[in-house]
Amino acid sequence: MVAQIIDGKAVARGLRAQYCERSERLARRGVTPGLAVIIVGANPASRIYVQNKLRACAEVGIASFKIELAETASSDEVIAAILELNSRPDVHGILVQLPLPAHIPIGPVLRSISVDKDVDGFHLYNVGGLVVGDTVFPPCTPFGVVKLLEHEGISVEGKNVVVVGASNIVGKPMALMLTQRDATVCICHAKTRDLAQFTILADILVVAAGKPNLIVPQMVKTGAVVIDVGINRLPSGKLVGDVDFDGVRQKASYITPVPGGVGPMTVTMLLNNALLSAERNTTS
Ligand code: GUN
Repeated sequence: MVAQIIDGKAVARGLRAQYCERSERLARRGVTPGLAVIIVGANPASRIYVQNKLRACAEVGIASFKIELAETASSDEVIAAILELNSRPDVHGILVQLPLPAHIPIGPVLRSISVDKDVDGFHLYNVGGLVVGDTVFPPCTPFGVVKLLEHEGISVEGKNVVVVGASNIVGKPMALMLTQRDATVCICHAKTRDLAQFTILADILVVAAGKPNLIVPQMVKTGAVVIDVGINRLPSGKLVGDVDFDGVRQKASYITPVPGGVGPMTVTMLLNNALLSAERNTTS
């Protein structure tokens, strides 16, 4: 069996075309959707991610506001910037690019974002919403995975799903979203003993561990759907996921490439959430 490649870039392109229409509909009602991005310090990877987000906003007619704070900014300064954005009617979505500098505790910062502008879905209230299946804004990366599965017509109901990686941004919300959709979900993480005994059971394997080549063909059931959320830069400069793509492709039924799989969907879901927020705020 040779897996079908899930082309996240193409799916994202199609969705973004629809999003242009959504922002045009808002414009006809006098509303320009607005997203504010706060970046603290000069983490080079974060700068690139933020640039990508701002560029994507411009492509679909979302106004973006970049708030840059110094590496030395205090937690109070970051929270003050958020509170100001919470009160601005032209800002429908707020995100704080992570990671924050080590001296800033992340929880109070994320909890100061107004729940109805929390387009990353990281506020405790929104995380709680995932637990009870009443999401305000679904977190972007797992939402992108769900959209890719839906696009390919892959049902998750009753399937064995194994999520490798238990981060707050991807693994845990991914598991909750798939549980809500009636999958049987197992979360594995860095302390899991004998990872392969779990992954081999997966009808759908979602890998978000940040380790190149973590998943090799012997760990994958024939015909499994393999979703690779990892993004790793090798010393050679090559970008790879967490899955041995060439090997696993010979065994899986579907597989996402890196780059061009889940990555383009993450930013696309952020655009969706910003538009959703503006639409919710626009009556008549
Ligand atoms: N850093 C890595 N991924 C993300 C994300 O999805 N949102 C934010 N705000 N920061 C990140």
